Amino acid sequence: MQRKVNKNKNRNKTKITAPIVEAMQKAYESPSYQFHIPGHTKGCGVLKEFKTLIGKKALQIDTTDEFDNLGTLNPPTGAIAEAERLAAEAFGAKRTFFLLNGSTIGNLALAMGITKKGQKIIVNRNCHRSLLTGMIISGAEPVWIIPEKLEEWGLWGSIRPEKIEALLKTTKNVGAVWITNPTYEGVVSDIKTIADICKKYDVPLIVDEAHGSLWHFNDSLPVSALQLGADAVVHSLHKTGGSMSQSSMLHIAKNSKLDVNKIEKALKLLHTTSPSLILLASLDASRAYLSSEKGKKQLEKTIKNAKYLRKRLDKMEKLHQLKSDFGFKTDITKVFVRIDGLSGKRLESILEIDFNIEVESASDVGALMLINLGNKRSEIKYLADCLEKITNTDYSDICHLENKKHMPMLIPNIKYKLRDAFYMEKEIIKKQEAVGRISGEVIAECPPGIAILLPGEIITEAHMPYLTDYEEIEVIKE
Ligand SMILES: Cc1ncc(COP(=O)(O)O)c(C=O)c1O
Repeated sequence: MQRKVNKNKNRNKTKITAPIVEAMQKAYESPSYQFHIPGHTKGCGVLKEFKTLIGKKALQIDTTDEFDNLGTLNPPTGAIAEAERLAAEAFGAKRTFFLLNGSTIGNLALAMGITKKGQKIIVNRNCHRSLLTGMIISGAEPVWIIPEKLEEWGLWGSIRPEKIEALLKTTKNVGAVWITNPTYEGVVSDIKTIADICKKYDVPLIVDEAHGSLWHFNDSLPVSALQLGADAVVHSLHKTGGSMSQSSMLHIAKNSKLDVNKIEKALKLLHTTSPSLILLASLDASRAYLSSEKGKKQLEKTIKNAKYLRKRLDKMEKLHQLKSDFGFKTDITKVFVRIDGLSGKRLESILEIDFNIEVESASDVGALMLINLGNKRSEIKYLADCLEKITNTDYSDICHLENKKHMPMLIPNIKYKLRDAFYMEKEIIKKQEAVGRISGEVIAECPPGIAILLPGEIITEAHMPYLTDYEEIEVIKE
């Protein structure tokens, strides 16, 4: 008789340590009588329909720091401090801060913590609006680098290191070089050369790597700026790393000379005083997963999925995909495509209406699809099949008649300094009267959150196609 083999499922498995997740599990198993916030008290005081939708357990574990021995976020103590330490180790940083309110708050804290009023910050024009808000707060002034333009794609390309060196040579009082890498659509700049240049001029390099949080976990992806000589890096783990919406990380590099205390103090001022433990636990879980064998395999599958999709797309005659062959590197998981005869917005709406597919974003020219950790091969096949159908169907594009542009590709015409203009007296006028006036507001629609106009910039005819949804504009009072 054959004996049954006792398969111990957990044999050979190393335990994944996720201190916040574990502390929350303990608190869930031994609940206390709760006379503190949040006032719904483990879900007993909420709308029934909401509870049914979100699940009882989600409300039972919804809490903030200080309670249930979970530790605190500002300053980091207990399980939260341990989770941040493990994240720093996993990403190869000297110090990692968990962020609520996304990478936005990381950029704000960096601007407040390390830049000063009147200092110049060398920054790419296609940066996210959070950097600009940071500079409005600190009073540092942007010195714009205009990246390469990929005209055919209607996109910003990479940042040429020579441009940074030229600016460093001629600009006094530079507080930092602050680069976005990759772009939203996955175009990668040469961060190693840029970091070497910054070291030569002894200027800190900050990299907004909001869209690159997976890079450290697979060699087929570009190398993270933390390993290439940047001083500080922000990661929107919630975008592609698998954590929940709004949760991000800010890392300070091992050899950085940045004053970590100043950044920590700024974060303390900016952060909520009631951080969601669920969001913090999701960061902890995301780091633990990405570092685990299972997570690594899942990321490997994701990359295979992206390769599979790209191979299928290569065979579609009318479809073109942005990829590394065009003289710059890209992140393979970000698939930007354009189809002859269709604008990006039209493609987006066909995918949505005819095929129930929602893409990450679309511009005048093309649409961006993210191949994520959670996507199954069957979904990728479905997407490829649908794109194939679209390329073989005669859709007529009416979107171009809208005269509406979505990807800001303008070179600014600056009249006043950003912060000065932000605080000047303003008035609201009809859009039709705006040409020739000076903008009083940040206009940077999301996605991609890139500036169309900033306070202090002259409004021209070229801005109008980007402002079709606006009836009024705030301008500096004359
Ligand atoms: C380049 C870049 N940096 C920062 C951010 C802000 O990130 P979050 O949404 O995590 O606040 C974004 C958001 O789209 C972004 O594209």
